[in-house]
Amino acid sequence: MTMLPIITAPDPRLKRTAKPVARVDDGLRKLMDDMLETMYQAPGIGLAAPQVGVLKRIVVLDLSKEDEERRPHVLINPELTWVSGEDVTYEEGCLSLPDHYADVVRPSAIELSYLDRDNETRTLEADGLLATCIQHELDHLDGVLFVDRISALKRNMILRKLLKAKKSDTTPSADPAHVL
Ligand code: NI
Repeated sequence: MTMLPIITAPDPRLKRTAKPVARVDDGLRKLMDDMLETMYQAPGIGLAAPQVGVLKRIVVLDLSKEDEERRPHVLINPELTWVSGEDVTYEEGCLSLPDHYADVVRPSAIELSYLDRDNETRTLEADGLLATCIQHELDHLDGVLFVDRISALKRNMILRKLLKAKKSDTTPSADPAHVL
């Protein structure tokens, strides 16, 4: 396993649109294993490939708690096929915006299709934290960060502080359930 460096905002590499994967091969499977390990170590519950500098539509996540068995999800070319008309608010954080949190409103339930690590097309229905986390990660694939979904005032405040933090050396201490 290789730990991958996580890009933190503000950084133009987090604002690009990722490209679909044509076929999952051993190289990508290794990348996904490294992404999972990187996410577990961080710690966080979700990580998208652009956050480690790879512009491909790949997401890994795992909502299991520290004392539970790991339940990793790997989503390749994920696409929403349905979203609920009902919204829910969750306090989101992100490995690319260490130490910052904000309430984000998103649809409360979703359905999606994706490729698994064996190139099989699969579908998934999600609600609760899983639905929130998947939507947060899908945003990363389109260059959207959770701060793009809050007020400009709050966004600019967070980005300014992150810029400052980049110049100093700070270690984030967070509840991983909010680091998507
Ligand atoms: Ni994130």
